[in-house]
Amino acid sequence: MPPVKATVVGLGDVGRLHAELIAEMPEYELVAVADPDRGARESLPVGAAARCEDLPEALERASPDVVVVATPPATHASAVGAALRAGVHVYCEKPLALLAAEAALLVGQARERRRCLHVGMQWRHRPGYAEAREAIAAGAIGEVRRCELLACDWYRSTRHYSRRSWRGRWAGSGGGVVMSQAIHELDVLCWLIGEAVEVQAVIGRAREGVEVEDQAVADIVFARGTTGRLVARSTDFAGTGVLLLHGDRGTIELTRERVRSVISEVPIEKASSATRRTDGILGEVRPPPSLRVLLGASHRAFLRSLEDPHAEHGESARESVRTLELVNGIYYSALRGELVKLPVAAGDYSRLLDELGRGTVRVARTGPGYLPSIRPAPDG
Ligand SMILES: NC(=O)c1ccc[n+]([C@@H]2O[C@H](COP(=O)([O-])OP(=O)(O)OC[C@H]3O[C@@H](n4cnc5c(N)ncnc54)[C@H](O)[C@@H]3O)[C@@H](O)[C@H]2O)c1
Repeated sequence: MPPVKATVVGLGDVGRLHAELIAEMPEYELVAVADPDRGARESLPVGAAARCEDLPEALERASPDVVVVATPPATHASAVGAALRAGVHVYCEKPLALLAAEAALLVGQARERRRCLHVGMQWRHRPGYAEAREAIAAGAIGEVRRCELLACDWYRSTRHYSRRSWRGRWAGSGGGVVMSQAIHELDVLCWLIGEAVEVQAVIGRAREGVEVEDQAVADIVFARGTTGRLVARSTDFAGTGVLLLHGDRGTIELTRERVRSVISEVPIEKASSATRRTDGILGEVRPPPSLRVLLGASHRAFLRSLEDPHAEHGESARESVRTLELVNGIYYSALRGELVKLPVAAGDYSRLLDELGRGTVRVARTGPGYLPSIRPAPDG
């Protein structure tokens, strides 16, 4: 097979990594890169690839087979739409769009045009995660009843926000720790146990100078009846992250570097202190794989899906719509102060995002650990 001709649009922190990987992979030929920032496009060693100012120029000059979209989040939907209209397959960095409804439209467009639309949800390639999915589907821990997701291994400094004007702003990023970081773990959660149907959340902001939340707590109900709680923070310098899934027969624990299972020999409701349990490791790599390694795995999944855009290859855009519905629902619940049935109506969410962008709705500034839901109840 001739190499797949690829273009990378957006040459910031992550786009450069994509361009370097593509240049190294024999399955690809890097034919163009695009960024309005001259310094960004001139400083990258890209061999014979065309250096362009924007996506239309790259499409015109290089006629790529695929476009990798690594521009700021608020620009993803229009870039993906333009690439699909040009008949090109797309690998889009997360999130596919700021609104789940917008993402669903793009998925529909890709299907109609028989183009592959892949969203960079590369956490699914962490060690043991695919094995965990298989084990859960095969009933290894029985029906999953409860889950806890602690997504606090995401410390972000003041400089992280100040380096880029879109970070920390609702209009540019669509949200803070939930939309920009914990979305990876929420994607894994929905991938493992299916979509969420109901959520009640609170969000808060410890950091000065940003609009978006840097801490969140959400209670979530999933379609198959699993209930769970998310705690996400980007404020903890030495925070931690773990996803625990508890079923009728045992527990699976997923971290960045390992998946562990504990399975009871009898259903847990019949277990006693004498019940035998089997501990297993479904996958482990220490130290955990780097972003570069995970992006490489994600590109290989994308290349496999080019052979059949509708086959299930591990990071489908359709699934990331479900994750966005949950992310949008968390914000809607927290900011409107209500229990939310998912998905939130597109018009309602779009109005909220507009109000957030204009600053007429704000995330309350709360000290870490002082989210409204975990304040002590008043006496009596
Ligand atoms: N998968 C991951 O783990 C991961 C990690 C970090 C960031 N991301 C995502 O990658 C995307 C980029 O993040 P980043 O941190 O690299 O951002 P960045 O700000 O470092 O880079 C964005 C680049 O896009 C360029 N750009 C802006 N508008 C453009 C346009 N219309 N056409 C072409 N180029 C344009 C900017 O000049 C800049 O060079 C974001 O969506 C982010 O959420 C994903």
